[in-house]
Amino acid sequence: MAGRIPDQFIDELLARTDLTDVVSSRISLKKTGQNYSALCPFHNEKSPSFSLNPNKQFYYCFGCGAGGNAISFVMEHDHLDFVEAIEVLAKDAGMEVPREQGAPDRYEQNAELLKRLSESSTFFQRQLIEHPDKRKATDYLSKERGLSGQIAKVFGLGYAPSGWDNLLKAVGQRAEHQEQLFRGGMLIEKKDQAGHYYDRFRDRIIFPIRDSRGRVIGFGGRAFGDEKPKYLNSPETPVFQKSQELYGLFEAKQNTQQLDQIIVVEGYMDVIVLAQHGITNAVATLGTSVNSNHIRKLFKLVSKVILCFDGDKAGRSAAIRGLEASLPVMQDEKQVRFLFLPEGEDPDSLVRKEGKEVFNHRLEDAASLSHVLFEHARNQVTLADEEGEAQFARNAMGMIQQIPKELTFRSILIKQLSEQSGIDSETLGHTALPKNNPSHSVNSSANNTETEINNHFDQDQIFHHEDNFANDSYHPAYSAETYTGSNKQSGYKGRFSKRKNENTLPPAPSSLSKIKQASLCLLLHPHIAQQLDIPDPIINQANDEIKIFSKIWRYFTKNPKNNAGHLLGELVDNAIYFGIIDLLNHQDAINKQKISNSKQEVQDMVSTLERDLGLTNSKERLKNKGNESIKDTNSKQELRNLMDLIRQKKS
Ligand code: UTP
Ligand code: MN
Repeated sequence: MAGRIPDQFIDELLARTDLTDVVSSRISLKKTGQNYSALCPFHNEKSPSFSLNPNKQFYYCFGCGAGGNAISFVMEHDHLDFVEAIEVLAKDAGMEVPREQGAPDRYEQNAELLKRLSESSTFFQRQLIEHPDKRKATDYLSKERGLSGQIAKVFGLGYAPSGWDNLLKAVGQRAEHQEQLFRGGMLIEKKDQAGHYYDRFRDRIIFPIRDSRGRVIGFGGRAFGDEKPKYLNSPETPVFQKSQELYGLFEAKQNTQQLDQIIVVEGYMDVIVLAQHGITNAVATLGTSVNSNHIRKLFKLVSKVILCFDGDKAGRSAAIRGLEASLPVMQDEKQVRFLFLPEGEDPDSLVRKEGKEVFNHRLEDAASLSHVLFEHARNQVTLADEEGEAQFARNAMGMIQQIPKELTFRSILIKQLSEQSGIDSETLGHTALPKNNPSHSVNSSANNTETEINNHFDQDQIFHHEDNFANDSYHPAYSAETYTGSNKQSGYKGRFSKRKNENTLPPAPSSLSKIKQASLCLLLHPHIAQQLDIPDPIINQANDEIKIFSKIWRYFTKNPKNNAGHLLGELVDNAIYFGIIDLLNHQDAINKQKISNSKQEVQDMVSTLERDLGLTNSKERLKNKGNESIKDTNSKQELRNLMDLIRQKKS
């Protein structure tokens, strides 16, 4: 890892950077008096509410509340982390980013190697246009895989012609370049001739694998027909570690307007075909199963990760590994969901068959983590009656205990388990885990991420022990059919039909934000409104969720005897009306109706909100001060602390 970037450098970078240049090179700005205005790039809008103050060097959106300085703009707009944003700005300013300590990172050390990989990618792409046999490749892409030229370009697809030294000759003319190509996995050394090489990728369609900043770090190559292996991939190299990378992440960040969720699929082609159908937020693991690092990485970017699996046995056991990988890295406010496709389909085939809308419905209906967890615990039960219940509880606790202790999510699951098993939470907390409990595999899959899976057959064999996942002999209600097929049965008719199906299934953890949960509590327990004091700064927030919350709170403080029905009857604002209907219809309504500490729940939410507001305000205040005023030591120190906070949050 590279060392820390010195604070003075950041100060100087901000002083040298003009926010107007940074923003206007990315979106179109209009001069309005002293300031500039624009359509906000961070939310969808028709009239401009984004404003930039060039004197103070800050921007603010009156629509969505986004605001900050050049660094935060680049972070948010280009989907970069703090250090990446600094690097971008430094490059524009012609400044070199200094590091306080530590060795140069592996990318700096391998700059030359990365250059060769980039040249290789360019070479393969050029073959698609220039090579005498290019038709073989272009026909395959367009006719057999249905890809447009444009999408091929977005993903930088290329063609490795047949022959032993095409790349070698084109990119490896100098000995040191050959050596670098070799270290980058592009060449293979001849068996009995040290220092002599031949091309690894021959007669294949080429998929460049980029890291999250867009640098080519490896390749996948697909055979045209049934040759084996179907996909040939770069080996592990100093810049390419399969278990760390996600194919398509860079492209997803580039091409998705609002990246708030990411779908994880299995294959290169799945990512590309989904993107061609407008679903640009899919990424693929690189022949390994999804691991904790992947989930952690994705949680830095989005709050919702949807893991997508084939509907067959291998898919279901892969889902369990996905579940196990997720547990130790879960966070409150983040969610992992599971989408099971019909047997025999992959996202590529399905989206071509059904189209984007239906696929999106599937995504919306994806199973929650708790659903999958409880169902897995249920499916591992081998005994009947009470013993079975105890087994179920132990299985479930084995997994729940992998979730970090401090999470509310963990307590919710324990509570749900207690409701389902009739064992009180206290006792569950002390459950001794059985010897063969699933948690040992949890641990191993959380850290040891490298089981490479080259095809479904391997998967089946390696994870054969998990086949009982689909075994429904004991609990017909939890059969594989219900599991993968709740969507099938409800036919996407909406939440009412879905609710009905879920009657027999464990309740999902709340997918509602804290504010929505608090609103729901108020709706279901109107009498608590009068006992609560909500500070003005919260009530006056422009945020839609808070508007609904405030409306409900105000109404019930004035009309403590009324209920949600009365409130709905009096509402004239459609957005609020439907917002409330949505809440009342939510699957959590049943649970929230039952809770006895609704007042506490709302109060907690208000305190969190207050704290966040305090932090945001001081952050805004500082950023808004602009560069010129940041010379006084106190603000400087405060800004540094904040930067540290942001840094920690982002890393
Ligand atoms: P699949 O076998 O599911 O293939 O492999 P696919 O993505 O549907 O491929 P098409 O549609 O036939 O082209 C899923 C992923 O597993 C890895 C690749 O990353 C692939 O995208 N894989 C598969 C290999 O690395 N090697 C193989 O031989 C096969
Ligand atoms: Mn496929």
